[in-house]
Amino acid sequence: MPRRKITIAVDGYSSCGKSTIARALASRLSYNYVDTGAMYRAVTLYALNNGLINGRTLDEEGLIDELDAIHIEFHFNPETKVSEILLNGENVENDIRQMDVNDWVSQVSKVAAVRKKMVKMQQELGKGKGIAMDGRDIGTTVFPDAELKIFMTADPDVRALRRLAELESKQIPAHFEQVKENLLQRDHEDMNRSESPLRKAADAITIDNTHLSPDEQLKMVEQLALNLIEGRK
Ligand code: DC
Repeated sequence: MPRRKITIAVDGYSSCGKSTIARALASRLSYNYVDTGAMYRAVTLYALNNGLINGRTLDEEGLIDELDAIHIEFHFNPETKVSEILLNGENVENDIRQMDVNDWVSQVSKVAAVRKKMVKMQQELGKGKGIAMDGRDIGTTVFPDAELKIFMTADPDVRALRRLAELESKQIPAHFEQVKENLLQRDHEDMNRSESPLRKAADAITIDNTHLSPDEQLKMVEQLALNLIEGRK
């Protein structure tokens, strides 16, 4: 008998390791994985590269006018075993992690028309279930009926150190204080925007991973998922 497929929503603060855990879980279950932060980052990169961000302002109207020209897709790279993001046909997996994208992504992701387009695409990607998706509003807005909802949190210093290590591994220069300030600022903006703000769904399970290794977390969430898939709840 084929196994029941579920939808797994992983939300939480910036740099809590949401994508690491969602990607690993998807791989264990042979599910698809979607990094929705990468989608908002790709739109931000488009805005930066197309003169829609000048000095300290985002040209919101201009961005809305150009939304139809922004094509985002994911391609699985068999070498890295990672689903990489393409913006208008170009692989931007590394470019979207740059600090200027970090600085602007919360502004861009506040724009209602941008969210509407991204949410529609995310719902389309997950319509067959068998998916793990991470972001800020997956359990609340994108898949409010997801069978498994995880809400991740961790100490800000630990989160900043993890993001710094990720940036260093990609040879992107950054400083601890700058990274920490950026992620706290993004949390603040993500929690206080009017369009689907970051918040824990009432039925989400909170995991504080300050003192957990990726392996320990994976075991926890895999068990939760298997209980649901096998009807043990
Ligand atoms: O997960 P991340 O740090 O790569 O996400 C980058 C930004 O994108 C984050 O600061 C807020 C925004 N985002 C969002 O608004 N909704 C999502 N579902 C995912 C990300």
